[in-house]
Amino acid sequence: MQRIVLSLILSISAVFAASPGMKVYGKACVECHGDNGKEVSIAGKEIAGSKDVLTKLVGYKNGTFGGEQKATMQASLAPLSDDELKEVAAYVETLK
Ligand code: HEC
Repeated sequence: MQRIVLSLILSISAVFAASPGMKVYGKACVECHGDNGKEVSIAGKEIAGSKDVLTKLVGYKNGTFGGEQKATMQASLAPLSDDELKEVAAYVETLK
Protein backbone atom coordinates (compact mmCIF):
# COMPACT_ATOMS: atom_id res chain seq x y z
CA MET A 1 0.00 0.00 0.00
CA GLN A 2 2.75 2.45 0.94
CA ARG A 3 4.46 1.69 -2.32
CA ILE A 4 1.33 2.40 -4.28
CA VAL A 5 0.83 5.71 -2.51
CA LEU A 6 4.47 6.62 -3.02
CA SER A 7 4.46 5.82 -6.71
CA LEU A 8 1.21 7.72 -7.11
CA ILE A 9 2.78 10.77 -5.49
CA LEU A 10 5.85 10.42 -7.67
CA SER A 11 3.87 10.17 -10.86
CA ILE A 12 1.67 13.13 -9.96
CA SER A 13 4.71 15.28 -9.21
CA ALA A 14 6.36 14.09 -12.43
CA VAL A 15 3.34 15.26 -14.41
CA PHE A 16 3.37 18.55 -12.57
CA ALA A 17 7.10 19.04 -13.02
CA ALA A 18 6.77 18.35 -16.72
CA SER A 19 3.98 20.90 -17.19
CA PRO A 20 4.99 22.75 -20.35
CA GLY A 21 3.84 26.10 -18.97
CA MET A 22 6.05 25.68 -15.94
CA LYS A 23 9.03 24.98 -18.19
CA VAL A 24 8.38 28.07 -20.26
CA TYR A 25 8.02 30.10 -17.06
CA GLY A 26 11.34 28.79 -15.75
CA LYS A 27 13.07 29.63 -19.00
CA ALA A 28 11.49 32.97 -19.88
CA CYS A 29 9.87 34.62 -16.84
CA VAL A 30 11.37 33.54 -13.53
CA GLU A 31 14.36 35.87 -13.71
CA CYS A 32 12.07 38.91 -13.49
CA HIS A 33 8.88 37.65 -11.85
CA GLY A 34 10.39 35.20 -9.35
CA ASP A 35 9.58 31.60 -8.49
CA ASN A 36 5.95 32.15 -7.60
CA GLY A 37 5.21 35.29 -9.55
CA LYS A 38 5.76 37.29 -6.39
CA GLU A 39 8.82 39.30 -7.34
CA VAL A 40 7.81 42.96 -7.43
CA SER A 41 11.09 44.79 -7.90
CA ILE A 42 11.06 44.75 -11.69
CA ALA A 43 7.42 44.83 -12.79
CA GLY A 44 6.30 46.88 -9.78
CA LYS A 45 3.69 44.28 -8.85
CA GLU A 46 3.18 40.58 -8.40
CA ILE A 47 1.85 38.59 -11.32
CA ALA A 48 0.65 35.84 -8.96
CA GLY A 49 -3.14 36.01 -8.86
CA SER A 50 -3.38 37.85 -12.21
CA LYS A 51 -6.44 37.29 -14.37
CA ASP A 52 -6.69 37.29 -18.17
CA VAL A 53 -2.99 36.56 -18.42
CA LEU A 54 -3.14 35.32 -22.00
CA THR A 55 -4.86 38.53 -23.14
CA LYS A 56 -2.15 40.57 -21.45
CA LEU A 57 0.67 38.49 -22.91
CA VAL A 58 -0.75 38.66 -26.43
CA GLY A 59 -1.16 42.42 -25.97
CA TYR A 60 2.41 42.84 -24.78
CA LYS A 61 3.66 40.78 -27.68
CA ASN A 62 1.81 42.79 -30.33
CA GLY A 63 2.31 46.11 -28.54
CA THR A 64 -1.35 46.85 -27.71
CA PHE A 65 -1.08 46.40 -23.93
CA GLY A 66 1.23 47.55 -21.20
CA GLY A 67 2.55 50.38 -19.10
CA GLU A 68 5.81 52.31 -19.09
CA GLN A 69 7.93 49.20 -19.16
CA LYS A 70 6.04 47.30 -21.81
CA ALA A 71 9.06 47.12 -24.12
CA THR A 72 10.71 44.86 -21.54
CA MET A 73 7.83 42.41 -21.72
CA GLN A 74 7.59 42.65 -25.48
CA ALA A 75 11.25 41.69 -25.82
CA SER A 76 10.85 38.82 -23.35
CA LEU A 77 7.86 37.40 -25.20
CA ALA A 78 9.21 37.84 -28.73
CA PRO A 79 10.91 34.42 -28.90
CA LEU A 80 7.86 32.52 -27.62
CA SER A 81 5.35 30.75 -29.89
CA ASP A 82 1.57 31.18 -29.56
CA ASP A 83 1.39 27.74 -27.93
CA GLU A 84 4.05 28.69 -25.41
CA LEU A 85 2.13 31.88 -24.55
CA LYS A 86 -1.00 29.81 -23.91
CA GLU A 87 0.87 27.28 -21.78
CA VAL A 88 2.69 29.86 -19.71
CA ALA A 89 -0.48 31.97 -19.26
CA ALA A 90 -2.32 28.91 -17.91
CA TYR A 91 0.59 28.25 -15.55
CA VAL A 92 0.71 31.85 -14.28
CA GLU A 93 -3.01 31.63 -13.46
CA THR A 94 -2.24 28.73 -11.09
CA LEU A 95 0.12 30.95 -9.07
CA LYS A 96 -1.46 32.33 -5.93
C1 HEC B 1 13.25 41.14 -18.32
C2 HEC B 1 12.23 41.10 -17.27
C3 HEC B 1 10.92 40.38 -17.56
C4 HEC B 1 10.74 39.11 -18.07
C5 HEC B 1 11.81 38.12 -18.51
C6 HEC B 1 9.30 38.88 -18.06
N1 HEC B 1 8.65 39.98 -17.57
FE1 HEC B 1 6.63 40.15 -17.31
N2 HEC B 1 6.87 42.10 -16.75
C7 HEC B 1 8.08 42.77 -16.67
C8 HEC B 1 7.84 44.18 -16.47
C9 HEC B 1 8.89 45.25 -16.31
C10 HEC B 1 6.42 44.35 -16.46
C11 HEC B 1 5.63 45.65 -16.36
C12 HEC B 1 5.47 46.14 -17.80
C13 HEC B 1 4.55 47.34 -17.97
O1 HEC B 1 4.98 48.46 -17.69
O2 HEC B 1 3.41 47.13 -18.42
C14 HEC B 1 5.86 43.00 -16.62
C15 HEC B 1 4.49 42.74 -16.63
C16 HEC B 1 3.94 41.47 -16.72
C17 HEC B 1 2.53 41.16 -16.60
C18 HEC B 1 1.41 42.14 -16.39
C19 HEC B 1 1.04 42.38 -14.98
C20 HEC B 1 -0.23 43.23 -14.98
O3 HEC B 1 -1.25 42.68 -14.59
O4 HEC B 1 -0.16 44.39 -15.39
C21 HEC B 1 2.39 39.81 -16.76
C22 HEC B 1 1.11 38.99 -16.70
C23 HEC B 1 3.72 39.29 -17.00
N3 HEC B 1 4.65 40.33 -16.97
C24 HEC B 1 4.00 37.97 -17.23
C25 HEC B 1 5.23 37.51 -17.70
C26 HEC B 1 5.45 36.17 -18.19
C27 HEC B 1 4.39 35.07 -18.22
C28 HEC B 1 6.75 36.10 -18.59
C29 HEC B 1 7.48 34.94 -19.24
C30 HEC B 1 6.92 34.47 -20.50
C31 HEC B 1 7.36 37.40 -18.31
N4 HEC B 1 6.40 38.22 -17.79
C32 HEC B 1 8.70 37.72 -18.51
C33 HEC B 1 9.33 42.18 -16.74
C34 HEC B 1 9.60 40.92 -17.27
